[in-house]
Amino acid sequence: MSKSRDEVYKEKWDHRYSETNYAYGKAPNLFFKEWLLHYEPGSILMPADGEGRNGVFAAEMGWDVTCFDLSEKGKRKALQLAGERGVTLKYDVGDLEELSYEQGAFDVIALIYAHFSAEKKSWYHERLSQFLKPGGIFILEAFSKKHLNYVKANPDVGGAMDFDMLYSKDEIRVDFENYKPLLLTEQEVDLNEGKYHLGQSSVIRFVGKKEIPNHIQLRSSTTLNNPR
Ligand SMILES: C[S@@+](CC[C@H](N)C(=O)[O-])C[C@H]1O[C@@H](n2cnc3c(N)ncnc32)[C@H](O)[C@@H]1O
Repeated sequence: MSKSRDEVYKEKWDHRYSETNYAYGKAPNLFFKEWLLHYEPGSILMPADGEGRNGVFAAEMGWDVTCFDLSEKGKRKALQLAGERGVTLKYDVGDLEELSYEQGAFDVIALIYAHFSAEKKSWYHERLSQFLKPGGIFILEAFSKKHLNYVKANPDVGGAMDFDMLYSKDEIRVDFENYKPLLLTEQEVDLNEGKYHLGQSSVIRFVGKKEIPNHIQLRSSTTLNNPR
């Protein structure tokens, strides 16, 4: 019996994470690091965290970290890295389609280079959003639609080759319409992340604050930019 598309995709990640080296390095993504440091530690969900470079960094900064990913091998490497750094993580293995967390459980959700199929992308964003507290912060970095030109010129920069899996600012505006954008840019970056993100690319960067429903809106003019 032939394998389903999902099985083949999961095997691809298990295969990549079977290498001794860390595919995207052990250091956190720079954009994620910069933004996380703006906030007091609380609870954070790291979807599609792979080998855990970002989740482990958050734990080192004192966050209560929950990661998940399709890849069992990714989990092993993440726990190994956490051990090296003397921190702990909760790490679930599974597809976002099946995993579930308590509604409003997290202060921050960070989605770093997670590229989902066109049919599922918006639904996944909506699902993740349910797990974020009102007033919580969503951080996202992913390849933009312009990335295709960059990867053709330099395959070492890696990343999704399917136009529909890549991101645009308009898609973010639609999928995160109930967020106040603190930052939304499409920009060229020079990636130096392990063996698989090497070179110039174009990325979407988004940081948004989930709106507080009207019935629990603050009466004063106080602005809350901190998720805690
Ligand atoms: C490019 S890697 C990025 C890993 C990590 N976020 C990082 O920046 O190092 C993409 C990851 O997304 C995971 N992934 C893709 N679709 C997923 C899904 N539906 N549910 C859970 N994980 C998924 C893959 O297993 C893979 O580890």
